Amino acid sequence: MKILVQKSLTLFILCSLMQGNLFGQLANTIKKIEVNASSNLGKIEPTMWGIFFEDINLGADGGIYAELVKNRSFEFYKPLMGWTVLEQPSKEGSVLILNRQGSNLSNPRYLSVKLDHAKKGNLSLINEGFRGMGIKAGVQYDFSVVYNQLTNPIQLHIELVNAKNEIIGQALIEAINTKGEWKKLKTSFIATATEPKAKLKIWFEGDGEINMDMISLFPQDTWKKRPGGMRADMIQLLADLKPGFIRFPGGCIVEGYDLAQRYQWKKTIGPLEERQLIINRWNTEIAHRPTLDYFQTFGLGFFEYFQLAEDIGAAPLPIINCGMACQFNSSELVPIDQLDPYVQDALDLIEFANGDTTSNYGRVRASLGHPASFNLSMMGVGNENWGPQYLERVKIFEKAIKLKYPNFKLVYSSGTDPGGERFESLNTALRKMNADIIDEHYYRKPDWFLNNANRYDLYPRNGSKVFAGEYAAQSEFTVSPNNKNNWLTAISEAAFMTGLERNAAVVSMASYAPLFAHAEGWQWTPDLIWVDNLSAYGTPDYYVQKMFSNNKGNKVVSITLDGKTLIGQDSLYASASLDTVNNELIIKLVNAANKSQATLISLTGVSKIAQQANTFIMQNNLIDMNSFENPEKVAPKAASFNIKGSSFNYEISPYSFHVIKIKLIK
Ligand code: AHR
Repeated sequence: MKILVQKSLTLFILCSLMQGNLFGQLANTIKKIEVNASSNLGKIEPTMWGIFFEDINLGADGGIYAELVKNRSFEFYKPLMGWTVLEQPSKEGSVLILNRQGSNLSNPRYLSVKLDHAKKGNLSLINEGFRGMGIKAGVQYDFSVVYNQLTNPIQLHIELVNAKNEIIGQALIEAINTKGEWKKLKTSFIATATEPKAKLKIWFEGDGEINMDMISLFPQDTWKKRPGGMRADMIQLLADLKPGFIRFPGGCIVEGYDLAQRYQWKKTIGPLEERQLIINRWNTEIAHRPTLDYFQTFGLGFFEYFQLAEDIGAAPLPIINCGMACQFNSSELVPIDQLDPYVQDALDLIEFANGDTTSNYGRVRASLGHPASFNLSMMGVGNENWGPQYLERVKIFEKAIKLKYPNFKLVYSSGTDPGGERFESLNTALRKMNADIIDEHYYRKPDWFLNNANRYDLYPRNGSKVFAGEYAAQSEFTVSPNNKNNWLTAISEAAFMTGLERNAAVVSMASYAPLFAHAEGWQWTPDLIWVDNLSAYGTPDYYVQKMFSNNKGNKVVSITLDGKTLIGQDSLYASASLDTVNNELIIKLVNAANKSQATLISLTGVSKIAQQANTFIMQNNLIDMNSFENPEKVAPKAASFNIKGSSFNYEISPYSFHVIKIKLIK
């Protein structure tokens, strides 16, 4: 009992300390902060805050790609993975996987079903979806199958069933004799109930034999209502970030476990049935979170990525393989004298995105429905590659790409870590080469983010720009399954991001990683956005990203405390910018201390300002998180206050992040 009381007391003290209210306000002098709106510390690029997309944690298949059928083409290494065959009585050989290798190299397998006067209950196929299928009442669903058959008409009964096996949507289609030709059969129906764990059931009526492939089910309420498109709720969360760029398709996905599994963009465009799937490298990569049914069908391919970038107003940033597989896995290397096809892929990708419609790949883009250019201006060569082998290869890409497209910008890898021998030698070599943009990654503890808010203050202002291409505060350690997305991780990133913004003259792009995680299918935590089959929510880290991206400005101005740059004195972090288009001064303040801090903020270099300032404030306990039940527990709250003259008192609450927007009057 005594122990229990003591434990509760300790817990109370800890929580109170974290809220900064145990001893009331600690002795606190008023801090004098000055923002000089007429200073100029550099331009903030429109690309400054962007997003990193990779097919990890069921990000694409089972995620934004809205296909509900898992293993629609029977090409998983276990051809019936995701499917159950129910047959009463069971007959040997009535359901077979056949292989037409030779006539269809990218999608050789199909399902052959022999019917013997089938009727309800005799023979049915059930697909389990990706951890079930998220079905919504009132939404229309599109079913399709590619089939052939040589007999009398066969009836296909299509049913969506809920977890209790009750029908919540159905349709009937007739498969007529196709005389051996493969034909597509389609139907649509409306779901009558909402269900997170539905399954698709197909049962047959008739006699004979039917071959089936590409069995598919899509909702019609996709992003922009595109047939076969993306999950609208997930994409909306991306659009709400107003991202400056979108990096795709990864990540380690680009490298592959070995070169055979590397990402090859040319295999991801054109008819779906010709996009050859491969195993997803996250299938077995994380030993404590194996995901054996994780494949890349490439239903979401490079055309769709470019289209997505355009839809959400983000500059596309594809990353391509540089002739090296993941150096944590096979480390497989393409010999230098065999690198040409890889370099050609890069050149062809630029043509695919931008080339006029008379060029080879520009014509392909037009044939897919987009004659206009996608305005691709940059590309990453390699992801987290390092060593002399990387330098040797990337120089070959650079030479070929710059020769043909002199103004095209390249993003270079600086390895996996933001320090150490590998980073230092690569960074030095890349800067000597005058590399356009260097990609730095940091998966570190919250303290690292707080202590490194000044990381770029001494970086050279001229020369290579930095792309903070992957970062996230790890509450436990990198790839720990116990990592949390809580207010501690988010506020430490906010503090660090003030350093990125202050150094926008050096850092031209930044993106949190990974982006998405499915609650039942993740491999890697923490992640920016969590989803299940029916809903999606942003983490505290998401709202921090949104605050920066939605309130960016285009010019950095100085913000000082007692004449010194504000970078962590008394755990206060800050950046300030001007939005010269909307005539706004934007101040960002992070208080990473457990006490409230009183400040007097003076504005210099302004002639007249509007009386009302608008604020967005995030303030929480460090352990607070968002969830499906409470998705906005940690989210910005809007408020406003009045300013008289050119200075104002401002109290910065414990563990809080503030964006203050002040209209400048000319
Ligand atoms: O974001 C998860 C992984 O972390 C990326 O695929 C890789 O680039 C990094 O190691």
